Amino acid sequence: MSTAPATIETDFPRGDATDLDALLKPLRALEALAETWPEEQRNGAMARVAALDALHAEALRRLVRALKSAPGAARAMREAASDEVVYAVLRRHGVLKPNLFERVEAALDAVRPTLASHGGDVELVSVAPPAVEVRFLGACDGCPASALTFYAGVKKAIAEAVPEITEIKQARGLGGAKGAGANGGAHFVSPFAAGKARDWRRASSLTDLPDGETRVVAFEGRSVLLSRFGEEVTCFENACAHMGMAMDGGEIADGFITCPYHGFKYALQSGECLTAPEVQLRPHAVRVDGDRVDVALSD
Ligand code: FES
Repeated sequence: MSTAPATIETDFPRGDATDLDALLKPLRALEALAETWPEEQRNGAMARVAALDALHAEALRRLVRALKSAPGAARAMREAASDEVVYAVLRRHGVLKPNLFERVEAALDAVRPTLASHGGDVELVSVAPPAVEVRFLGACDGCPASALTFYAGVKKAIAEAVPEITEIKQARGLGGAKGAGANGGAHFVSPFAAGKARDWRRASSLTDLPDGETRVVAFEGRSVLLSRFGEEVTCFENACAHMGMAMDGGEIADGFITCPYHGFKYALQSGECLTAPEVQLRPHAVRVDGDRVDVALSD
């Protein structure tokens, strides 16, 4: 029986160098390698993985059951689950249920092949129970007939997979250059600002906000978080949904911020809270006009 090449084994991260991507990299390499093995050998390896998974899942379930009644354990486990590695492993073993955002995304994944076969796609703009907002892209956007059909398909998929979501809003013409029109020459306008008269005030220049970065900005006597994702800029009140604390100094990585106080983790593109999906950051409307980033406070 052949063995995995030494390069793969020595790629395993050791010590503290263990972010999720680093940990998953050698696993993906081994999975790709196993694809090249004879069927019998591959089935044996898969069976071993399944047996180990079952063992680990049962051990984790027993651990959680044993800890559950201990004072402060629920909170400690919630905080532990805000770590991406802990979250990923608990999710894989079914100890944590998928959050609302993941469930809606999974429902959209189910209809994406149909949309793609007509040259279109759909993206999730925001999740705010009982409503979600989606945006149709490509051929799905701007064609009334196909939009109706696709909207019905998306609505049905979400209703079946996430029954607590009862309202599907549709963001129209807001991606990239399509934001112009009702909002003057702006080339990006945050979805919930569409078509409404707003008191826009300059908050930053686009060049001061490099792609992928987040800035804490003092704005109109408030503190807000400005984040850039390509041409899209989001703005949220710099106040944790847990106890309202400013999150200055919280870890910001890969489009997520972790509150420095008790570890609540938020997606800076949607404002969704991964730690407690029933809450989210308070959004403010944003528009990008040339190099100018304007914000209109939501209240
Ligand atoms: S997690 Fe408690 S204030 Fe942010």
